[in-house]
Formats: sequence, C-alpha cells, structure tokens
Amino acid sequence: MQLPHHGKYEWLPMLYNIIKDFEPDKIIEFGPGKGQTTITMALALKELEKGYINSYDLWNDEYWGDIKGCLDDFKKWNVEDLIDLQHLDFYDWIKSPIEERDFDILYFDIDNNGDKLLDLYKNVKHNIDSGSIILFEGGSIVRDNHGSDGKKMNDVKNEIGYKVLTEDVKYSFSIIYNKNLYNMEY
Ligand SMILES: C[S@@+](CC[C@H](N)C(=O)[O-])C[C@H]1O[C@@H](n2cnc3c(N)ncnc32)[C@H](O)[C@@H]1O
Repeated sequence: MQLPHHGKYEWLPMLYNIIKDFEPDKIIEFGPGKGQTTITMALALKELEKGYINSYDLWNDEYWGDIKGCLDDFKKWNVEDLIDLQHLDFYDWIKSPIEERDFDILYFDIDNNGDKLLDLYKNVKHNIDSGSIILFEGGSIVRDNHGSDGKKMNDVKNEIGYKVLTEDVKYSFSIIYNKNLYNMEY
C-alpha cells in the first residue's frame, strides 16, 4: 500500500496497520496539519470499506499547512469522501456534551506536551475505559527535549499509562488503551 511521504513521521505504516487492525467506525483527529496522517488513516478505512474521520485543526501555524492544501491532497489520494475536515479548537471540543464526543480511535497531534496529554486523558478516560483507543505523536524521552513549555510527556506517562510504539526517537508515536480489554502486542 502506497502511503503519503511525511518526511518526519516514519511511523505512518504503523498508524495504517493499527487502523486496519482495530477496524474503527469513527475516528477523531486533532491536528492534521498538512493531512498526511489523515490520508494514511483514510486509506486504511478505504481498504476496510468502513469508517469515517472527523478531523479538526486550528491551522495556527502555516508551517504545518492549511485547510485548502489538506482538501486538495484528500482529492489527490481519492479519500475526500471519508473525511470531514473542520476548524475546531480541541479545548472547545472538550467542553461539548460528553455524549457527543464518542469515538473508536482518536489521533492527537496539537504540538503535544504533558499538559495537553493530561487534558486529553482526563476528558476521554471514560472512552478509554470502554474500549476506545488514543494514538498520539510523541511520548519518547528524546521527543521531550524538543517540546514546548509545560510538562514533559514523560512526566505524565505513569498517570496516563501510555506506551511508546517507536524507538526512542524525536518523531515518536504512542498509544493508550485499556489493558483489561485488549491483549495485544502494541
Ligand atoms: C505538529 S502539527 C500537526 C502535524 C501533523 N499531524 C502532521 O502529520 O504533520 C500541530 C497542529 O495542531 C494544530 N493545533 C494546535 N493547537 C490546536 C488546538 N487547540 N486544537 C486544534 N488544533 C490545534 C496546529 O494548528 C497544527 O496544525
């Protein structure tokens, strides 16, 4: 399967495989940026012939892309029917009613640090408890040397119970799941 070339995130094949394994109906993404992660997940859904992505960004940093560029690329990859792309702040989403925030997989990439991961975790713990999966950029020790201000991700690792899926590299990738529900290699 041909996937987008990211240039930084070498773990896109891993993201693709996890989506294939979990067969989610509903994916939520925060921080698509240029949309390579979104396209990767959509290609897995296309292969599965099921599922949909609601993807949200603020596009507050040109470096990470814009909504038009994303939409153009979704068309190039022929996945535009599988994605609803909107401008939405994660911090507004967590204020919405809990019953409107259900998902099977949530991919989180909003210039992550430990504080943001904790904000995410506290607001989706009930989803994780009932079987939803969180995937996020970062989590490695090396990545914490390149983060923004605030808590390091590794400062909250035990509280959240996340698992790093990549080597200890800058552009790492991690997962949170209910270990009582899943017996898996991730
Ligand atoms: C590191 S970039 C995402 C990289 C992208 N996933 C990729 O594959 O290249 C972080 C993105 O998060 C967005 N962002 C930052 N804070 C946000 C928030 N509170 N809610 C939604 N998006 C946010 C930024 O606009 C930016 O596009």
